[in-house]
Amino acid sequence: MNTWKEQMEAGEVLLKTENLSRSFSTGGTMQHVLKNIDLKLYRGEFTVIMGASGAGKSTLLYALSGMDTPTLGTITFGEQVISKLDQDELAVFRRGHCGFVFQQIYLIDGMSVMDNVMSAGLLVSKDKKAVLTKAKELFAAVDISEETQKKFPSQISGGEAQRAGMVRALINSPEILFADEPTGALDSRSGRELLECLREVNEKGMATIVMVTHDAFTASYAKDVWLLSDGHMKCRLSKGRSQKEFYDRIADLQASLAGGSEDCRIENRMAGDENETL
Ligand SMILES: Nc1ncnc2c1ncn2[C@@H]1O[C@H](COP(=O)(O)OP(=O)(O)OP(=O)(O)O)[C@@H](O)[C@H]1O
Ligand SMILES: [Mg+2]
Repeated sequence: MNTWKEQMEAGEVLLKTENLSRSFSTGGTMQHVLKNIDLKLYRGEFTVIMGASGAGKSTLLYALSGMDTPTLGTITFGEQVISKLDQDELAVFRRGHCGFVFQQIYLIDGMSVMDNVMSAGLLVSKDKKAVLTKAKELFAAVDISEETQKKFPSQISGGEAQRAGMVRALINSPEILFADEPTGALDSRSGRELLECLREVNEKGMATIVMVTHDAFTASYAKDVWLLSDGHMKCRLSKGRSQKEFYDRIADLQASLAGGSEDCRIENRMAGDENETL
């Protein structure tokens, strides 16, 4: 088994779509939300899907993560064509490979933060000691103290709950973490802390990440940004020298698209990601 870095350098495709389309029929009208999307996501990436409200970001995330089935086209995860799976097979796929972080995290309030994570881990592994070790490692990575781990979800802050939700999402070592507007309900400081945790998780090689947002600052934490507009993947930006420079380019592109410009650029990843803070 190669290390995460070797796999990245070898460019292992983790998730691939071909001609992915998703339409909805409501009240006799067909709405074509995703139109013939072809994309490749490499193992180790931290990719953001950006676009205006209603652009189809969540629809794309649900399709990529096997929570929804496309109208047309194929989605391949590793060697497995997930767009062909039935609902039961998709549930097995999600449990085995995916973690999820949404805007609202629903921790079970009758048990401590630690027990929330342990119960998710023990659904998959019977090795209690190993699950506990992993939980402690993840809590440390997202800066949740032992005192906080003992509290009930109603006794912790929204930011702590979101980070605890991230630990629960990662406890079974998913290959890929899907996040849909994970900072949407948080204040700016808690949002920033969560984004830094996501970046750390990705940089430590714990998971490939696909995150949805409409916000340029949030997007600047990723390594790549895909812009979804009018049902198509309009362009892709890759991080360059610094987070600040990446943020400026994302905001410029967002402004030009909002102004109706079609001036989109596909850029290649640049070396030397410095992780500067804004
Ligand atoms: N199950 C569904 N049935 C009918 N229409 C749907 C369904 N799911 C999504 N849509 C439509 O598809 C379009 C895209 O929705 P989606 O939720 O993917 O947008 P989004 O980019 O995530 O927006 P936001 O940023 O507001 O969350 C919307 O017009 C929505 O009404
Ligand atoms: Mg959405």
